[in-house]
Amino acid sequence: MTARRVTTVAELRELGARARHESRRVGLVPTMGALHEGHLANVRLASEVSDLVVVSIFVNPRQFDRADDLEAYPRDLEGDEAALAALGDAAPQIVFVPEIGEVYPGEPAVTVTVSRLTDRLCGATRPGHFDGVATVVTKLLNMVAPDVAVFGRKDFQQLQVIRHLVRDLNLPVEILAAPTVRERDGVAMSSRNRRLAADEREAAHALPRALREAVTVARGERAAGRSLDPDLLRGAATAILEAALGVEIDYVEVLDPNTLAPPDGTRRGEAGESESPEQLLVAVAAHVGPVRLIDNVVVGDPDDEDALLATRD
Ligand code: PAF
Repeated sequence: MTARRVTTVAELRELGARARHESRRVGLVPTMGALHEGHLANVRLASEVSDLVVVSIFVNPRQFDRADDLEAYPRDLEGDEAALAALGDAAPQIVFVPEIGEVYPGEPAVTVTVSRLTDRLCGATRPGHFDGVATVVTKLLNMVAPDVAVFGRKDFQQLQVIRHLVRDLNLPVEILAAPTVRERDGVAMSSRNRRLAADEREAAHALPRALREAVTVARGERAAGRSLDPDLLRGAATAILEAALGVEIDYVEVLDPNTLAPPDGTRRGEAGESESPEQLLVAVAAHVGPVRLIDNVVVGDPDDEDALLATRD
């Protein structure tokens, strides 16, 4: 089924209002286009839990910290619409493709800032990025008024920023997280992968390899009855990235997945005993050729660990 292309907020609101009047659940999958299997998995999940699925395609200039990155961001509306139509029963009913003036009708006076959770990871190296994301996501949620919105776990910090945004502003929407979709060689699907030359694509293996190493070390520690040491995991992942040719590390961080802060080593169990963190986010970012790639795994989340360990270079 080919989705209806909607370009104005007025038409979008009318279609949404009609759906709600008929007690149909509205689902939103926000994207910047150049759709890949990761996005399509988000759309499949949205179509499982809602009756009217809206996929937004908008390359949001306010979340790019570099003009050349915005310029080079891949755009392929026809390809995107064909990929969505090929989803068959899971295809969205609406593709929302607003012009810039529809999203930013005038010089913006309002910026949505999520002040916690954004000082580390990508927030530290991409100034203003999460203000741009939080602002446009707030706008998209206001435009579509969905019951549910789906985001990928690959952008883990973005996911947590949006969860906190929704919680703190009491936005009436449920946020669902879709698992990271990986190529067979482990590289996480990303629109930016399209810009990698063959040798750079090979170099990109270092990111999932570093995460696999962290998971393997964590499993060894657990099997030996030792508590998880964030520094050990960080060291294991860093060593792999440092040894890789054509990879320039941006960060390797091991954090509490909920707070995105360093894990609290003094955490106590209910009985007051010392407790090691149950789950740790291992997140990496690196420049490979012309692009900056990110990836992560939540150590202690069996599904996330298994999906990563099932891949090979
Ligand atoms: O993840 C993305 O593609 C973007 O950050 C989003 C959520 C669509 C906001 O522009």
